Amino acid sequence: MGLKKAYCRVYQWIYNIGMKVVKWKEPERLEGVDSFHSIPEILEQAGVWAPMIVTGPRIGKTGFLKDLYNDLSERSVIYDQVHPDPTISQIEEMYQIYQDHDCDSIIAIGGGSNMDAAKALAARVARPDKSLQDMKGQLKVGRQVPFFVAVPTTAGTGSETTIAAVVTDDAENHKYAINDPVLVPDYAVMDPSLTVSLPADITAATGMDALTHAVEAYLSWTYRTEETIEYCEEAVTAIMGFLPEAYEQGDSLEAREEMLIASFKAGAAFTRACVGNVHAIAHTIGGLYHVPHGLANAVVLPIVLEDYGSAVYGKLARLATLSQVACEGSEAERAKEFIRHIRQMNEHMGIPEHLPQIREEDIAQMAEWADQEANPLYPVPVIYDKKHFEEVIRKVAGK
Ligand SMILES: [Fe+2]
Repeated sequence: MGLKKAYCRVYQWIYNIGMKVVKWKEPERLEGVDSFHSIPEILEQAGVWAPMIVTGPRIGKTGFLKDLYNDLSERSVIYDQVHPDPTISQIEEMYQIYQDHDCDSIIAIGGGSNMDAAKALAARVARPDKSLQDMKGQLKVGRQVPFFVAVPTTAGTGSETTIAAVVTDDAENHKYAINDPVLVPDYAVMDPSLTVSLPADITAATGMDALTHAVEAYLSWTYRTEETIEYCEEAVTAIMGFLPEAYEQGDSLEAREEMLIASFKAGAAFTRACVGNVHAIAHTIGGLYHVPHGLANAVVLPIVLEDYGSAVYGKLARLATLSQVACEGSEAERAKEFIRHIRQMNEHMGIPEHLPQIREEDIAQMAEWADQEANPLYPVPVIYDKKHFEEVIRKVAGK
């Protein structure tokens, strides 16, 4: 483990130098009630006329989507069949439709899965010479993608500002990410009126996903910058303050808007500072058992934070104080209170403590995938080897 740890830290140190020369982009932000209606104008300004609207069946039936479609040129096309955990074959089907209709831009509307599908489509359009498998990992797209407008209808994934498109390999039931700054959308339209009808359980899970992004990016060993630190602190404070309200009073436009902005900031932060072992484990749970991503993160987060122990007390204590979860006591006490508060939020929102559906016979494979995803790239406070991942996954399963 000593050698592996040293290798990971050196890799991360060098990678961080490389990232300093990468051209990072942040989407133009449009915020506020009814900002959604500005989309035709945005497209016109960008000089594109034939957008493919990518969304799921639930949004496909809504009035606001029909209104948007009517406001766009007759060359627009809607694809409303994205399902959770979009697969490679589905993205190939979308790519065919995009070509058949001679589209020139993409409007992604929805939560994480819809955004992932649309961004993977964008990568495919930019690189017709490469399969999605070929673009797995870092910086493999490398070419301009079509003009891209992201309209989140959940507050959690931060996908409207990230470099990642997560896809599921149907053959292996395994998720992986395509990461490239070219996949950062041109515009993020954050209209809280689109999130008020979100069911409470999805509000809870996606909100905890945003919290996990902010916390993991904050704990980043080396990639964090002044800006990511500030974004994480603001996001954690807003989520601790407004997620319970968004969960309890879904129609609170203030809570919904605060959550959209927090989710955006957490997304922008982890795009630069990275996520960590929580996500590495949660992705294996999502791939194998189709547990929603945010729910898996919500369950794994306090278990991993507890497992990190004293390595994270200082940073968690600061988050606890800023978000007024715990303002007194030693660093260790405030950090433990912060973890306890996450568990309380989970319980209050009906999120279980464990995921007993995790089968013992799958744990070794899950640990291997998590190890491959996290190491050597993720700048985690404590580097896990395969055995350590297995132990933590067993705790997540409640075994
Ligand atoms: Fe996430």
